[in-house]
Amino acid sequence: MPEVDSMAPKAFQPDVLQEPVPYLLKGSGGYDWGMRYRLSRIFRPTTGRTVMLAVDHGYFQGPTTGLERIDLSIVPLLPLSDALMVTRGVLRSVIPSDLASAVVLRASGGPSVLGELSDEHVAMDMSDAVRLGASAVAVQVFVGSEHESRTVTNMTRLVDAGYQVGIPVLGVTAVGRDLTRDARYLGLATRMCAELGAQVVKTYYCDDGFEQVAAGCPVPIVMAGGKKLGEADALIMASRAIGAGASGVDMGRNIFQSRFPEAMIKAVDAVVHGDLRPDHAFEMYQDLSQSSAQPASAG
Ligand code: R5P
Repeated sequence: MPEVDSMAPKAFQPDVLQEPVPYLLKGSGGYDWGMRYRLSRIFRPTTGRTVMLAVDHGYFQGPTTGLERIDLSIVPLLPLSDALMVTRGVLRSVIPSDLASAVVLRASGGPSVLGELSDEHVAMDMSDAVRLGASAVAVQVFVGSEHESRTVTNMTRLVDAGYQVGIPVLGVTAVGRDLTRDARYLGLATRMCAELGAQVVKTYYCDDGFEQVAAGCPVPIVMAGGKKLGEADALIMASRAIGAGASGVDMGRNIFQSRFPEAMIKAVDAVVHGDLRPDHAFEMYQDLSQSSAQPASAG
């Protein structure tokens, strides 16, 4: 028998206005709920920023130094990242499915380091991203390269497919081998990605004008790490990017090629989420390194 509810006191509180629901991310409040939910898996709601760990390098360069055994080198770091950028092959083969971090799936590919890097295609159907519980898919966009137009179309196809299922697209501004990473180029590439529908844009840091790159991009920007630097310099770069308006980092080699990857990702986290000064973050890295049981193994 249905419960009789008519006598119960009600709590409609008509004198209290229902407030609009706020949203943490720049330019993202108008998306459907599922897409906002997935973005808030990637970007920590308390800070609106992310520490994304990029380990997808093998999709074009094979067993990259530090990623030879992802089960051994990367799995222990997973609890320390907000999101993991990974290929579906590695996800299925070595990443535990009780993962707490968000998954950002590499969705473009084709050429290897032996060929023309911009010759990419869409390399994954959006239905597989749904099947795998991805919070976003990532696609390389090679503005100014030989296959510029196709890589832009790769992204727009994924954006359309993503809107069908509520999965956002991370547009990655790839610089190829010869392009200059200055603010003018990065501003062009990031703005193109956002204008054409990417909900998040990943780009490299540049010393001059990064704040203009970030301000000119109407959706969140995350900073790519790039080639391995000394830990102190990598922390300075991350701090400057955050200070200039980046909503986080998507770092690979500067974490997993560090001698002490766990110490490094914790120091990066303190910069990104705690606004820790980079010199203090480097001291933190050194302290954690000394107390770390094992450096990253070689051989
Ligand atoms: C490269 O194309 C991949 O998307 C990497 O995930 C990206 O370059 C970030 O890794 P790293 O910090 O090592 O540059």
